[in-house]
Amino acid sequence: MEVVRLVRLLEGSQRAVVFTGAGVSTESGIPDFRSSQGLWRDIDPMKVASIGALREDPEAFYAFYRRRLGMLEAVKPNRAHEVIALLEERGYVRAVITQNVDGLHQKAGSRRVLELHGSLRKTVCLDCEGEFGGELLAGEGVPECPRCGGVLKPGVVLFGEPLPNDVLEEAYELSRQADLHIVLGSSLVVSPANTLPQVTLANGGSLAIVNLEETPLDLYADVLIRARLGETMDALAREMGL
Ligand code: APR
Ligand code: ZN
Repeated sequence: MEVVRLVRLLEGSQRAVVFTGAGVSTESGIPDFRSSQGLWRDIDPMKVASIGALREDPEAFYAFYRRRLGMLEAVKPNRAHEVIALLEERGYVRAVITQNVDGLHQKAGSRRVLELHGSLRKTVCLDCEGEFGGELLAGEGVPECPRCGGVLKPGVVLFGEPLPNDVLEEAYELSRQADLHIVLGSSLVVSPANTLPQVTLANGGSLAIVNLEETPLDLYADVLIRARLGETMDALAREMGL
């Protein structure tokens, strides 16, 4: 029933945006962060996923990070990614604003993807600030800058780092213009990403949330679906004849 209401909202909107978090990739086999199976269940992110942790102990940082990178190697987009790409292709959605760095939206065919937290396709040198490809993350130990030998950082936003300004600005603009903001698979607890759906609400737009667990914006949602994203997005695609 709620899926049909989401379809009606989508069909009636002109400038919808999709906002995704780790929950959209769990059915591809990538654990999320804060649900009962999440990565941060028994690990303090500040100790393993912050810029301070990387500077202080690059070995320990990469010992943790390589496990995460290993999980990302063989993964494929799932049905939720596919349907999101179809919604963009058919003109129902203008862009995907994602907190994820797994690149699965692009693999599924999404074209306008705003990566708020960066991506693993790049690396950056902590010393000379040179930018290089993500392939330098392959292998063992601490990746070194090909130019100065400094420690390379994955091209993702670590805790304690600012988000890429240009991407954030574009995400705010899209959220301001949006008449519908569809949140898929995010706990909405990390800022400033979690302010984007609120910008749409503040400008009179509608909010839809599909998430297995509660979020701080649930009470503002015009449509709230507490279900798995794969089956929900599949049902939506069938209802819309995508
Ligand atoms: N279907 C629907 N919801 C799901 C599914 C699924 N298959 N799998 C997980 N979820 C929900 C969980 O219940 C959880 O509320 O997705 C949400 C994911 O929330 P988080 O794990 O907090 O992930 P996210 O919101 O993306 O975290 C934001 O935190 O650690 C940082 O940089 C990291 O980008 C990440 C940011
Ligand atoms: Zn360097």
